[in-house]
Amino acid sequence: MGRILAVANQKGGVGKTTTAINLGASLALADQRVLLVDVDPQCNLSSGVGLKGQSAPAGDIYDAIMADDVGDGSAFVVATNVSGLFAIPADRNLAGAEIELVPMLARETRLRRIIEPLRDRFDYILIDCPPSLGLLTLNALVACDAVLIPLHCEYFALEGLADLVGTLKRVRTVLNPALDIDGVLLTMYDERTNLGQQVSRDVRSFFKDKVFHTVIPRNVRLGEAPSHGMPVILYDVKSRGAEAYLALAREMLARNGRAPQTASATH
Ligand SMILES: Nc1ncnc2c1ncn2[C@@H]1O[C@H](COP(=O)(O)OP(=O)(O)OP(=O)(O)O)[C@@H](O)[C@H]1O
Ligand SMILES: [Mg+2]
Repeated sequence: MGRILAVANQKGGVGKTTTAINLGASLALADQRVLLVDVDPQCNLSSGVGLKGQSAPAGDIYDAIMADDVGDGSAFVVATNVSGLFAIPADRNLAGAEIELVPMLARETRLRRIIEPLRDRFDYILIDCPPSLGLLTLNALVACDAVLIPLHCEYFALEGLADLVGTLKRVRTVLNPALDIDGVLLTMYDERTNLGQQVSRDVRSFFKDKVFHTVIPRNVRLGEAPSHGMPVILYDVKSRGAEAYLALAREMLARNGRAPQTASATH
């Protein structure tokens, strides 16, 4: 049975999309079948895996969300240039969904309806959320088993997290009782600054063992890879960014009892 994770944080630019793409590709490299689902109208995930403007003949995630009948969901899945890594891409039309969903029946469960039947075809399904707590993120939180929260190592990292934690509580009460926090991931870490170390300490004292040992460093290759439409393991597998996401994949597999834990970039 596949594990469904929403990569969410309503704060913008914290590394959600970078994490979905590169964790997904690293898991695929470890022989996992991985599906990436883009539910952000910015479509950064889709272009980051070379699928800008592309979709399956059945349509993109917007068409799937709006469709009355989505079958088993597989008609919306396309392959990426990484073996074992698949995606349901988004286009800018998804921006309209946030409003069009409002009057719809079962508006919070439209995404779950698409993804749940795909669970037994993949080992991991990663949903890349937009930087808001609107209906698209809500759909992701209802569709997933757990949330992966990337946190940018900067002064305001923890600010606004109370809103996210509050939303998780409400979703748990009403729509998805089993919803868990899978883990908190420190991103864009700069070990040379005291601030990075301070934020890391604060986050670990707040979220305790939910915080991944693996920390993602600030790495220019991670920023460059999406403009070439490929995950960093294809762009520069020897970069620190690639090593960090490969280590994160190993840590996640070990946590989920799917592989022995090996050395990882820990702090
Ligand atoms: N570890 C890193 N080192 C250097 N650059 C990074 C790193 N992680 C992400 N970036 C860059 O920072 C920017 C924001 O990252 P990303 O798009 O992953 O964040 P996001 O949370 O998905 O943003 P949004 O909220 O807009 O969806 C991007 O330009 C990305 O390439
Ligand atoms: Mg993003």
